[in-house]
Amino acid sequence: MNHKPVEGFSKLTKEGKTDWLVNEYLEGNVEYRKILQQYWNENPDLQKLHDEFSENTISNFYMPYGIAPNFLIDGKLFALPMAVEESSVVAAASKAAKFWLDKGGFKTTIINNEKLGHTHFIFNVESHKLLHFFNFNLKKKLLEATEDITANMRKRGGGILDIKLVDKTAEMQNYYQLKASFDTVDSMGANFINSCLEQFGKTLKQEVAISEDFSQEEKNSLQIVMNILSNFTPDCLVRAEVSCKIEDLKDDSGISNEEFAWKFKQAVTIAEIEPFRATTHNKGIMNGVDAVVIATGNDFRATEACAHAYAARNGKYSSLTHCTTDNGIFRFWIDLPISVGVVGGLTNLHPLVKFSLALLGKPSAQELMSILAVSGLAQNFGAIRSLVTTGIQKGHMKMHLLNILNQMGATEEEKQHFVTYFKDKTVSHHEVIHEFNRLRGQ
Ligand code: MEV
Repeated sequence: MNHKPVEGFSKLTKEGKTDWLVNEYLEGNVEYRKILQQYWNENPDLQKLHDEFSENTISNFYMPYGIAPNFLIDGKLFALPMAVEESSVVAAASKAAKFWLDKGGFKTTIINNEKLGHTHFIFNVESHKLLHFFNFNLKKKLLEATEDITANMRKRGGGILDIKLVDKTAEMQNYYQLKASFDTVDSMGANFINSCLEQFGKTLKQEVAISEDFSQEEKNSLQIVMNILSNFTPDCLVRAEVSCKIEDLKDDSGISNEEFAWKFKQAVTIAEIEPFRATTHNKGIMNGVDAVVIATGNDFRATEACAHAYAARNGKYSSLTHCTTDNGIFRFWIDLPISVGVVGGLTNLHPLVKFSLALLGKPSAQELMSILAVSGLAQNFGAIRSLVTTGIQKGHMKMHLLNILNQMGATEEEKQHFVTYFKDKTVSHHEVIHEFNRLRGQ
């Protein structure tokens, strides 16, 4: 069926939008309207708040919000808030946290905290002339022109750290960048950085126009293409690690400590050298990172993009975690570039985000970086531990069992039966259906 385009959709009320959609796309079936409406919140203020986070909102899309307790991080105990729809992620995090609890927990170090952004421009001039103009005139003017924008950030201890001129003409004709680094303290800083960069673009244009260093023809060639922060922040970097004696690496799956350490290290090395495995390995890490990123109101698309760019920084996609087993010591760590905020954005608006940050003891942005790296490392530890011992399906399917039973419309009594039935068996989709049919006499 061909659908008609709509004019002024954004101006319709929520009911109007819903009616139009149901009539145009869902054959007028009111059951679909009910699906949307059952997720509307009874509290009109809360609903309005959520509606206004985005545009053209017609309902709420719930995500499970779970807690992974017992995380000992730099000597302090945390219960991590995790917003994630995938079964067994929270369970794996909790299990890994417990494993490391009596072994000193997780240690973290902030390696650097620098954010980046660029003014990308085209200028048909000799690069030495431009460099001279940048060093002796423009740089100072860029800083002066952004003083109003940076005043508050400077009061909080941040601001523009440096601005460099980058010559990219070897890769693209007449292409240069103003590459700026920023300290945005406790905010992620996207708006701050982009405001500074847009001012850089304007100032660059103005200063070139009045400069005596360039001919009119050269001046006419200047084009500011765009001013935008980079989500690749390799120098906004945190390390999280765990270590213990190999003899203390007790695993309950029955393999020896030495074999466990050896297999674990092999699995990490495979992820370091093999991009196919590295992608899944890092996906598992991001299961842990993103769940806390979302629960704390941060931008998971940005953290994903950054992590994967970093994983490919040497020209080949590789693991974000590393492992050594030297001198009888098992050491496992992650270097995670991640730019997050604890002020601004959704942090003061979304009630569950406020809850998450309060639960974490109102961390600074750097403390949150540490917590996120730990969550990723714990998740990876849990995944590799299962992969090299029992296999991933045992734990995963146990957690997924409820999803399968819910899909089949099992009663609470039947669900209880299945939990007991699978206590010492690996859950499989086939086996659940078989037992379900037997139970119902089919
Ligand atoms: C599933 O979401 C994540 C894992 O595949 C990660 C991994 O294989 O390391 C279990």
